[in-house]
Amino acid sequence: MKGCFITIEGPDGAGKTSVIQALVPKLSAALQQEVMATREPGGSRIAEKIRELILDPEHTEMDERTEALLYAAGRRQHLVEKVIPALEQGQIVISDRFVDSSLAYQGWARGVGMKEVAAINAFATENMSPDLTLYLDIEAKEGLARIQKGKADRQYDRLDQEELAFHEKVRDAYLLLLKENPERIVAIDASQTLEKVVQECYTVIMKQCN
Ligand SMILES: Nc1ncnc2c1ncn2[C@@H]1O[C@H](COP(=O)(O)OP(=O)(O)OP(=O)(O)O)[C@@H](O)[C@H]1O
Ligand SMILES: [Mg+2]
Repeated sequence: MKGCFITIEGPDGAGKTSVIQALVPKLSAALQQEVMATREPGGSRIAEKIRELILDPEHTEMDERTEALLYAAGRRQHLVEKVIPALEQGQIVISDRFVDSSLAYQGWARGVGMKEVAAINAFATENMSPDLTLYLDIEAKEGLARIQKGKADRQYDRLDQEELAFHEKVRDAYLLLLKENPERIVAIDASQTLEKVVQECYTVIMKQCN
């Protein structure tokens, strides 16, 4: 595949969506290349329906493995419909979350098991791995505080009902993934100003996807 597949990861409120928004115009101007920002389910109508099932606040009886399987299913559909075609055209694709999120949230924090979640995602993606993952590192408490502050412009969903302890586990899992995948994952200190975080992400991408 010709393009460059970048994923942005990190706990809730780390700044993933804000960073991507700022990165896209900067990158496409510098590289004179199309940059596609996406997020599962990314406008795939099937993946969209799967996501509705996952996030519906009424689905309190959702089993953890069901949730993990649904994420993997939505991920595959989005990958096949959106990400792979864009990469084949040589685009840079930046995805707001990918497999690492499932490993951290469902695998570790929810307790399904990272190996188990990795296995279903290997099936879903046919072992496709990002060329580069930027991990926006922030303490769980700080990320949650940012979300509280900006609440008016963000929808409330079922996953927000989780305790601080859950989000701390998510961060622990990310740090473990970082340690295990030093060739793929680059950590960025996301407690810095947005401008600084964007600049650091930009520098890493220009070095690795050029
Ligand atoms: N570096 C930063 N410093 C201060 N505030 C920030 C920074 N980056 C983002 N924010 C603010 O924090 C809030 C969360 O940011 P954002 O939605 O980009 O995070 P996210 O990682 O996408 O979160 P989620 O996982 O919930 O989607 C927003 O209100 C945003 O304006
Ligand atoms: Mg976001």
